[in-house]
Amino acid sequence: MESSRRIMCVGLVCLDIISVVESFPAEDSDTRCVSQRWQRGGNASNSCTVLSLLGASCSFMGSLAPGPAADFIAADFKRRGVDTAHVAWQPRGEVPCACCLVNATSGSRTIVLHDTNLPDVTARDFERVDLSQYKWIHFEARNAAEQGAMLERVERHNRAAAPGRRVRISVELEKPREELLPLMGRGHVVFISKDLARHFGYQSAPEALRGLRGHIQPGATLICAWAEEGADAMGPDGELVHSDAFPPETLVDTLGAGDTFNAAVIFALAEGRTLQDALTFGCQIAGRKCGIQGFDGIV
Ligand code: ADP
Ligand code: FRU
Repeated sequence: MESSRRIMCVGLVCLDIISVVESFPAEDSDTRCVSQRWQRGGNASNSCTVLSLLGASCSFMGSLAPGPAADFIAADFKRRGVDTAHVAWQPRGEVPCACCLVNATSGSRTIVLHDTNLPDVTARDFERVDLSQYKWIHFEARNAAEQGAMLERVERHNRAAAPGRRVRISVELEKPREELLPLMGRGHVVFISKDLARHFGYQSAPEALRGLRGHIQPGATLICAWAEEGADAMGPDGELVHSDAFPPETLVDTLGAGDTFNAAVIFALAEGRTLQDALTFGCQIAGRKCGIQGFDGIV
């Protein structure tokens, strides 16, 4: 049954140590924050949180190394009902950790991530995934060569599978790293960030979609979120779709807004909703997220 197949997100999980401040501190100052918390972070990991809150059954695949940070992270995945059977436990390396300042007055988030020496999941790890259990696999572009091989495996599976048993593929390109660009050609749905669009010289989401459409495969959908301007998408026939943002009454925390948007769009598309509906839903849920600290209360 379609509804029993899961959604998987492949990518980063890290520990976010978040200090909520009333105003952004000056360099070399010594100030107090309003509150502080540990939060499980990383794009793919945050998207799993949101998928789970939306009621999807989902799995996370990424690397962890045993220790106190991983204990916290594993317990949090469990609390959210995210399946972690495919986490690659690495014998060496440290769990990535980010120091995040969330400015409760503006909602801005400033992230300093230590993306450590922890090896990423490999195509070999991915071979253990039973693809028949998944209706959708989302890849946060990170280790291009290995992820290319993982994508090849899903593509092979899809060629042999009956139409109703195929796995939809989405890819997120957030960082403007040259070696990640070919992955744009591999997803049925491709998310590109404002940062990436700006890196290529585009000043708006529709401009980026028109400029970058040549990188995606025929029939794919390209999506670009743009903070308070909402999000735009180009569908399989080249049609442009837009949703305004749904700003909350007060912006308090935009950390993970993009990951929330991606998850909500994937959730809606996986349910068979239209691109316009999915984009609007993505902006609604992401807007709600920006009005609260963390993820509790987005649904
Ligand atoms: P990130 O920087 O986390 O990747 P984006 O800036 O791409 O996030 O925003 C993703 C979505 O979150 C936007 O499409 C929008 O719907 C919502 N969003 C983000 N920032 C704001 C904001 N300041 N006001 C309203 N909505 C926002
Ligand atoms: C938010 C986030 C944080 C993490 C950082 C990694 O999108 O995933 O949770 O610290 O980005 O780049």
